[in-house]
Amino acid sequence: MTDVPLSPPWPVEPSIRVLLLPKDTNEHGTIFGGVILSHLDLAAAVEAGRHTEHRFVTVALREVKFEQPVHVGDTVSFYTRLEGKGQTSLTIGIRVEARRRGPSAESVLVTTAEAVFVTVGADGKPVAWDSPLPVS
Ligand SMILES: CC(C)(COP(=O)(O)OP(=O)(O)OC[C@H]1O[C@@H](n2cnc3c(N)ncnc32)[C@H](O)[C@@H]1OP(=O)(O)O)[C@@H](O)C(=O)NCCC(=O)NCCS
Repeated sequence: MTDVPLSPPWPVEPSIRVLLLPKDTNEHGTIFGGVILSHLDLAAAVEAGRHTEHRFVTVALREVKFEQPVHVGDTVSFYTRLEGKGQTSLTIGIRVEARRRGPSAESVLVTTAEAVFVTVGADGKPVAWDSPLPVS
């Protein structure tokens, strides 16, 4: 991969924001890590879609370390930014913050991670993310 390192600041607005519900919890009442991973992949895909017209697939999710638990009723924001471009890959950084419910409305950092997407053609094989779309 010929990644060009990029380090834009985190945006003010998240790509997605969700309210987590009892259906998302484990038996201890905290949110399943897999629920956060699913939203994380989705938020990163929103960002990737801003940079290419091709369809793309997730090839890797990197370095997901959960720093703080997420509770029912937290509002969780997924901030995203483009962090690298290869020939067929786009690397997206994701910062996840939970805002606790209640008057304190404290915000905590849940995790930061990277998602790598590969742009693919109709045959599912990698194509350059900035190549023209085929004329149909
Ligand atoms: C993604 C996929 C098309 C890549 O096919 P491939 O033939 O292995 O592709 P290549 O080896 O040519 O690599 C393509 C790009 O992916 C990058 N890549 C491959 N494995 C990677 C990894 N583990 N981490 C980061 N980037 C990776 C390569 O560096 C390359 O990037 P570049 O062109 O910008 O340099 C193929 O592996 C695939 O279809 N995987 C399943 C994707 C999917 O379904 N995801 C959802 C799972 S539910």
